[in-house]
Amino acid sequence: MSNDAVNKTRRNLIIGTSVVGAVGAVGAAVPFVGSWYPSAKAKAAGAPVKVNISKIEPGAMITVEWRGKPVYVVRRTQAALDGLKKVEGLLSDIQSEKSTQPQYAKNPERAVNKEFAILLGICTHLGCAPMFRPEVGAADLGGDKWQGGFFCPCHGSKYDLAGRVYSGMPAPLNLEIPPHKYESEFVVVIGEEQEA
Ligand code: FES
Repeated sequence: MSNDAVNKTRRNLIIGTSVVGAVGAVGAAVPFVGSWYPSAKAKAAGAPVKVNISKIEPGAMITVEWRGKPVYVVRRTQAALDGLKKVEGLLSDIQSEKSTQPQYAKNPERAVNKEFAILLGICTHLGCAPMFRPEVGAADLGGDKWQGGFFCPCHGSKYDLAGRVYSGMPAPLNLEIPPHKYESEFVVVIGEEQEA
């Protein structure tokens, strides 16, 4: 990975941390609404996690913890959305027929709001955390054919920016999508179901 990519990844992690931190800070500063925000113990047990996604830069990703698992939130650019169509011939479960996602995310972009991909950051092979590799044309991931996505460093599985797995990979299925609901344009609750 280039230094730029490393720096970008680091910056995104920092943004992710600050987003989660900001949620906690609101709960602490306004005791009246504190009960809206789950305690650390409740979170570990599976309480929903509310995330403000407005500060994610186009093309960047943050990681949020839900039920002790990483949830990736990627803000996709129009070019990234166009890239999803370009790689369809290379994928194993294009329509996500065999993969796990809520019904409201069973579409080509695998999203309620296609600008944002919300995925469990757990490889469907043996559970490693895939790396965010958004660089189009990355030489080590297929060159011209690579439109950005995720790469699992454990055994080399590749996924596109909707978490759809490439054909011939050790991973059998697309990345799972957790239940989530948009409370407003930029506030997502991970762990609650979107209403129809
Ligand atoms: S755990 Fe990801 S490829 Fe094996």
